[in-house]
This record gives sequence, structure tokens and C-alpha cells, in this order.
Amino acid sequence: MSEQDVDDVAFLTGDSNTGLHKRSIYEHNGVAVCSQKRALCIATIVFAVLFAISLIIAFAGPQNDCPCAGEKPANLEAEEDKESSKPLATNGEVFPWNNVRLPTFAHPTRYNITIHPNLTTLEIKGQVTIEFYVDKETNFIVFHSKNLTISEKMVQDRKGHRLKVAKLLEYPKHQQLYLELEESKFRKRGNYTVHLRFVSKLSSELEGFYLSSYITADGEKRYLATTHFEPTYARSAFPCFDEPQFKAKFKMSIFRDRFHIALCNMPVVNTEDAGFYMGTGLLRDDFQESVEMSTYLVAFVVCDYERVSEMTRRNVSVSVYAAKSMLPQAQYAVSIAARIMDYFELFFGVHYPLPKQDLIAIPDFAAGAMENWGLITYRETSILYDPVETSTIAHQWIAIVIAHELAHQWFGNLVTMKWWNDLWLNEGAASFLEHKGVNHVSPQWGMMDQFILEKTQPALRLDALVSSHPISVPVKDPSEIEAIFDAISYSKGASILYMLESFLCEDVMKRGLNDYLNSHSYQNADTNDLWAVFTKHSNHTFDVKAIMDTWTQQMGFPLITISREGNIITATQKRLLLSPVDNETELLLPKSPFNYKWYVPLSYYTDKEPQNVHNVWMNMTDVTFEIPTDVEFIKGNINQTGFYRVAYPEEMWTSIISTLINNHTKFSPADRANLIDDAFTLCKAGILNATIPLELSVYLLNERDFVPWSTALEHFSSWASKLSESSGYKRYLKFIKRLIGPVIRYVNWKDDGPHLRKLLRSNILHCGVWVNLEDVVKSAHDLFNDWMLKGKSISSNLKEVVYSAGIKYGGEKEWNYCWEAYQKSQIPSERRILLNALGQATDPWLLQRYLLASLDRDKVRPQDVEGVFAVVSRNQEGKLLAWRHLKAYWSKMQAMFGNGTFTLSGLISIVTSDFSTEYDYQEVSEYFKNVDVGGSQRALEQSLETIKLNIHWVNENVETINQWLINYLNEHAS
Ligand SMILES: *[C@@H]1O[C@H](CO)[C@@H](O)[C@H](O)[C@H]1NC(C)=O
Ligand SMILES: *[C@@H]1O[C@H](CO)[C@@H](O)[C@H](O)[C@H]1NC(C)=O
Ligand SMILES: *[C@@H]1O[C@H](CO)[C@@H](O)[C@H](O)[C@H]1NC(C)=O
Repeated sequence: MSEQDVDDVAFLTGDSNTGLHKRSIYEHNGVAVCSQKRALCIATIVFAVLFAISLIIAFAGPQNDCPCAGEKPANLEAEEDKESSKPLATNGEVFPWNNVRLPTFAHPTRYNITIHPNLTTLEIKGQVTIEFYVDKETNFIVFHSKNLTISEKMVQDRKGHRLKVAKLLEYPKHQQLYLELEESKFRKRGNYTVHLRFVSKLSSELEGFYLSSYITADGEKRYLATTHFEPTYARSAFPCFDEPQFKAKFKMSIFRDRFHIALCNMPVVNTEDAGFYMGTGLLRDDFQESVEMSTYLVAFVVCDYERVSEMTRRNVSVSVYAAKSMLPQAQYAVSIAARIMDYFELFFGVHYPLPKQDLIAIPDFAAGAMENWGLITYRETSILYDPVETSTIAHQWIAIVIAHELAHQWFGNLVTMKWWNDLWLNEGAASFLEHKGVNHVSPQWGMMDQFILEKTQPALRLDALVSSHPISVPVKDPSEIEAIFDAISYSKGASILYMLESFLCEDVMKRGLNDYLNSHSYQNADTNDLWAVFTKHSNHTFDVKAIMDTWTQQMGFPLITISREGNIITATQKRLLLSPVDNETELLLPKSPFNYKWYVPLSYYTDKEPQNVHNVWMNMTDVTFEIPTDVEFIKGNINQTGFYRVAYPEEMWTSIISTLINNHTKFSPADRANLIDDAFTLCKAGILNATIPLELSVYLLNERDFVPWSTALEHFSSWASKLSESSGYKRYLKFIKRLIGPVIRYVNWKDDGPHLRKLLRSNILHCGVWVNLEDVVKSAHDLFNDWMLKGKSISSNLKEVVYSAGIKYGGEKEWNYCWEAYQKSQIPSERRILLNALGQATDPWLLQRYLLASLDRDKVRPQDVEGVFAVVSRNQEGKLLAWRHLKAYWSKMQAMFGNGTFTLSGLISIVTSDFSTEYDYQEVSEYFKNVDVGGSQRALEQSLETIKLNIHWVNENVETINQWLINYLNEHAS
């Protein structure tokens, strides 16, 4: 699955929530889960001590079953179990299976599924025949079903003899069915079939088998029915063994009206007139039987779309399906998909095993995209590209998401994780391979430099919080699984694989992956299986498991501190935490099996020989090495390929900064970005004086590259929101204005040049509008008026800045014009830009109107609500309104999104984590004391930690920054 895209707020929206509070009382490893929870509680105490504020209650919400003293009464667990040791089925009988996991003795091998959805009445009729065998004698089986009404059941042995069913019980809490035989037993290694008929309804949420719709160019509303099963929603479409290790073959048949088509993982092999079935002249499509696959990868769609197709080099047909009026926007996706398929076949050395690949644009879609095998579903903005209207950044996003899902066709679909605790590996690998895939088809885009911007830096930011979590976490029930689709899984997972590749070499990684995919095809594997092939193909040069365990089993990452004594360099490692922690409170933090030490591949070069790359291993230890005496500084973590940060001694920083200012191209763009990122972050952590990042920033007067600028702008905007209530705020904006002056002239207003220049231009001009740089605002405003009053078109990369300026410095008329354009546009990428721009208004009345409109799903699709909140709360004028709105409509939004989805977590992070005053902190923690935040507990904790951190940072730095700015601006008065 791909994360959703909320521009410019990747860090905030990607925020994690592991939902550990919903701990099931039946799980085996409750202890492990609880120790993590306890860890959070302890962290809470740490803050309470540090800031002398009572936070305890905020964290000890009603669902909290782990006493915050850090000690769990010994009898608590036992009591809980006793209390609920009699789970009751829907009919009041005891449900005999009391584990949220299915028994392992029954193995499905084949499903025949017939589905008849009606897009008018929303009714679904279905039947499923599951072939299975058992590997021990038993009189019952257990499988999944969620809110399906079973109308008929039958069990047969291989010869077709019926076995009498004693009972079929349903236990909604675990979404399970229990089927018991009367008299007879399932015999060891015997083959059986269970046959069920059921009815249900198309869901209105964006999961399971659900209804979506779109408006045609003529204003007519059309419906489609589509699926989203990952991680645990296949069970709400048909009864099944809904865990990833139960792979089976699927054979689908779908009834539909004549004016629709039906799509599935496999191609149609036969279409029959099924008039007799209902007497209504329906058609039935029968699909080819699939290969062995997991339930969460099954997909089917009924719609009235059309398609464009292309062939891969091996003649696999690749098609993109979209509504007729959007079909021209599907052309880019289909051609790049075919080329990326070719690339991955070569890269993995394994043929794509299905006869076709379909990609389809779904108007209502919760994630960015979903890798269903052979039928990949996408949010419209993740696939539809208009050469004139779509901006470069949206274009790149489409390439990335397409590559991400295609990488999964091998890594994830062909070889699947045994259980969801390895989700990080699945998503981390796809998030890493997506960049390689795009890098291959568009080498001039500099994707591996952008990788650090999109993955490494955001992951490092989040993982430096006390309330982070290890990427490898035990998970049990559906809400816990849902909660690990977070930035730590995706981005830290990707970053440590990038680091792994950098020390293994691409070739070893390729051979390892090939071996892994071949030896586990159509089966399941776990992280250790992957480490094993890498160890093998590195000829045992590396014990990959030992190295990588230190990165996956403990949270956080090391700060490598460099010190120098003559020509001896000492590099020490210590976990980097942004929150100030003294020795005493450190003892209270959660323990790690590795004591927060890592195997660090430390790379560096010296200023005297920048071409000469050195690698030293820190084997959970510190290290010393020699450098020539005349060396002034070393640059560690070359191109930020490692998942760690580096702190230099002061004289090295000074020397680095003067090198940057004199000739910044002595460092690669990725190294420049890395230096900016490390300097600002170390200041945030209280390790570096604020004057260092400020002095370093001055070199940006000469910077013309996208990646360093983008890194800097991220930090500038983060500083700005923290400084916004301080006296030096305007001075700070003035400083930024001065820094961007030269690059504004360089990028200019002509939307041309190479890819990265276009990205840079959008970012820089946008910053110009933000800080109210007169020329920029005036030009943008003129372009806006030409568009609004004379219908002049705006080139795609200037739209965001022009619309934003028009709205930010305009009034109701401008806003209404954009709002109408938003409602009318048939171009998803254009709608996206308008959605962002609308939140730039400065009139509270307009912002309020906007927030209210986002509650109406006919005006703003639920999947876009997060985007609305993101722009409004990043707007200084909108920040408090967004917070008020979140409180006022919390329960409505909870009903709208459900507790398990990432949307609520995202909303909490987006709206609150930029706060930086004690007053706001109190507000947030008080408010959530009495609110059920469901799966968003961790997001809330991370937000509270971030606010604390902001407050602390402002207190510590605001004077220094102000003083530095006064001096600098005096010296450079223009
Ligand atoms: C599934 O469908 C196929 C083809 O329609 C049929 O040959 C097979 O017997 C069916 N299997 C079961 C278990 O019903
Ligand atoms: C179960 O499905 C019915 C329709 O078949 C629907 O009305 C109801 O809201 C669903 N319940 C849950 C808990 O999803
Ligand atoms: C759905 O129901 C409508 C109205 O009853 C009917 O016209 C249509 O043919 C049905 N479609 C399917 C696929 O059953």
C-alpha cells in the first residue's frame, strides 16, 4: 500500500500511531505489548518530571490498562483473562476458539467465489467454496467473516459426501466463524470443501467491498464498486482464512449489468448471459484461476471505465482503467508502468507471473494506492497525469507510486511476509525500490538524492522522539495491524535498506533478492530469511542479521559525535533524543535489547581528499582512526546514506561553514542537505547552539540545488511556526527573504528547464509568497488576475504559487472563484492544487467556511479532509481555527473515518504538533483527557512530546536567535 500524499506535510501526516491500547486480552504476547505501553507511560513520567507538569492523566485515558507507575499488578492479566474467558457468539453460545489468530491446522488451497453486487440497491449476494485440508484430526475449523449474513452452509469430503454441520457460530469481536461437525471428523490430510452462501451490503467506508462514485463531464453521477482488503478486510467481502500465510488459488465469477465491466486479479476467460439467474438479462464474467496468493491481495471492481494498454517486453499486457473523460490522463501511467515492469523483471531476475497487469483510478480511496496482484488500485492523484495541467511534483509522485506498487508485485505478492509484524519489510522494501524504479526510467530526476528528502530525513525526525517505536513490533489484532502503516515502517524501513545497499553493494543486494524471490515463490518468508540471503551473497563478509537487528529491534538511531586529538579522530555513538533527558530520567526510558548501541557503517572523507571514501565499522562500539595532520574537517555519513546523524567539534563546524560559503560545490547536493539537516536537528536537540545553523544558512545565498533548498525550507518553516509568537518573528522572515533573494532571480517565472529546477522553482516561489516578498507576490497576483478575469492559463508548476498568492492576498471573490474551479475541475492534480490554495486565505470567515465544507462529502471527499486540515493549520491565521474545529467536530469525524484509520492520527498531528506555548499544551492535553482517541494514542503522545519540545526549544533559543538576527541584519542592511 502507498501512503497518501499530503503535500509539504509528509512528516506530520506520516506520523505514527501503533494503537497498542487496543490490546486484545487473548493475545499470547500481551506481555511484550504491555512493556511497550509501559514504556510510553514511563516516558510520560519523564516529561512530567522535566517540565513539572502533570501529564499523567492525559496519557492514562479510559482504555489504558497499564498502570502508569510502571508496575503492572501481577494478577491483572490473569483476572482479565478469567473475566472474558467465555467469549460469546452472536447466538449467545460460548464461542469455543478464544484466539484472535486462526488455528494453524486447517489450510485453504482453493476458493471459488461468485459475487453479485448491485450498484443500485447496494445489495451483495455471494457464494464461496473453499477447498482445504487439515494436518491433524479435528471436528472443527475456524475462519474469518465480518458482518456477512450466512444463509447456507455445507461441508463435503473429497468424494462429494456431505458431512453434517453441528454448528456454525459467529464471534464478531474477532470477526471469526467457528464450524463444528456433528459425529464425523476432518481426517488428517483429508481434503474437504466448505460451501457458504451469504448476503451483505456494499460498504460506504473505504474498505472491504465498497461503493465509490464520480461525476462525468456532463454532470451525471456514476457509481462503481471496488475493493480494498489490506490488511484485514477481505473477510468483510467473503468468508475466508484472512491471514497472509494462508495462500490459496482464487477463482472468481462476477455478475454485472451490461453497461458495466468487471475486473479481477486475473483476466476474464468466459462471459455468459446469465439471464436465467435473475431473469434480468445480467452477464456473468468468469475469471481465470489465480496463482497461490494471500487474501489481502485479492481485488475486484465493477465499473463503467475504459482503458489504454501497452505491452511489456515479454508481452504482458499492461492497462490503465479510468472514467472515459479521464482516459487521456492515463497515457503516462500506462507507458511508465510497462517500462518499470521491464526494469523490475531484470532487477529481480524473476518473470512477472500473471498474464496481465491492470492499474485503475478509484475516485474514493483511503491510501495512495494498493498493490492487489494484477489489479492495482490508485487514488486518482496517484495515477492520472495531464501533460499540460499536472505539476512536476505531482508527476513525480505518480511515477513513485506506480513504481512502489509494481515493486510489491514481486516483493510482497510473490513472496509475502509470514505475519504483519514484518509489514515494515514489505513497505520499507517497496519504498526503497520505488526510488530505484523511477531512477531507472527517469535518471535525470536525481531520485536517490531526493530519497533522503522523502524517506531518511522524515524518518530521522520522527525516530528521535521518545514516543517512537522499533520498526519491528509484535502485532496481533486488526487495529494494531492498521496502526503500523506509519512513517516508521515505510520511511525508516526504506532508509535502513538504503544503508544496507550502500555497504553490501547493489550487486550483492540484487543477487540476494533474486535468491530470496526464487526460494520462497508463492510462499511466505520473514525478515531473517532475507538477512540470510544477503549474508550468503556477501560471502559471509557481513553477518547481516546481527547488523540489521540493531536497527529493527530497537527504536531510535545513533548520534555519532566526532572529536579530534591531533591526528586521531574518535567517533562515539549515543542514541539521539530530541527531548532533553538527564541521566536520572534516562534510567526510566524503555530498555533496548542492544542497550541503544548499533552496528554503524560510518563513512567519511576529509577536506583534503574528498574523492577518497573511507568506511569504518562501529560494532556497537566507539571507534578511533587516524587522519593526516593538515586535515581541517571530515564529512561523515556521505550523501546521508546512513541512518544516523553526525556532530562535529566546533572548529570543524566553523571550517565546514566557511567552505560552504566560499565554494559550496565542494560538497555534493546530498551532503549539503545532510549538513543543513544535521545542524538544524542538533540545535533542536539542544546539542548545537542556534548560531551554527544560522551561520550555515548564509551559504544558501549561493545555493541553486533542489535537495538542499528543500531541506532548508522545511527547517525554516518549522522554526517560523515556533517563533511565530516571539518578538523576533518578523526579523526572522526578513532574514529568509534575504536568503532567497538570489535564488528567486535564478529560478525566475518561466516554467522551464530541467526537472529539478522546476521543483526548486515551485518551492522557492512558494516560500516567496509565504514570507511576502513583494516582487513575487505582485507577479503572482497579476497572473492570478489574468487567469480569473481574462481566462489566461497558468503553467502547471506556477499554479500552486499563483493560486496561493491570489487567495492569501485576495478576498472573497478570489476564494469563491477557486472554490468553484475546485468543484468543476475534471483533473485530479488540479483539484489537489486548488485544495491546497484554498487553505491559504487570511480571512477567518473564509477559513471557517472551508473547514465546514470539508465535513460535507459531496463537497470534499473524505480522503481529502486531511489535506484541508494540513493547509489550514500550517497557515498562521488558520492554526487556531483548525484546532477549534477539530474539537468541535471530533465525534463527527470519528464517525466519518472510524478509529482504525490513519486519518484521525494524521489530524491530531497536523493540527497540534506545531503548537509551541505552555497554554496550547494544556489545552491539547486537557481536551484529549476525556476523549476516546482510539488508534491515535501514539500520534497524540508524539504530538504532546513535540509541543513540549517546541516550548523548550523556544525558551532556550529565542534570545540567541533574535540577537544573531539583529547583528546580521544590521551588518547587511540593504
Ligand atoms: C471451482 O470451479 C471450477 C470451475 O468452475 C470447478 O471445476 C471446480 O470443481 C470448482 N471447485 C469447487 C470446490 O467447487
Ligand atoms: C453490517 O452490515 C449491514 C448491512 O448488511 C449494515 O447496515 C451494518 O451497518 C453493518 N454493521 C457493521 C458493524 O458494519
Ligand atoms: C440492480 O438492481 C436494479 C434495480 O432493481 C436492476 O435494474 C439492475 O439490473 C440490478 N443489477 C444487478 C447487477 O443486479
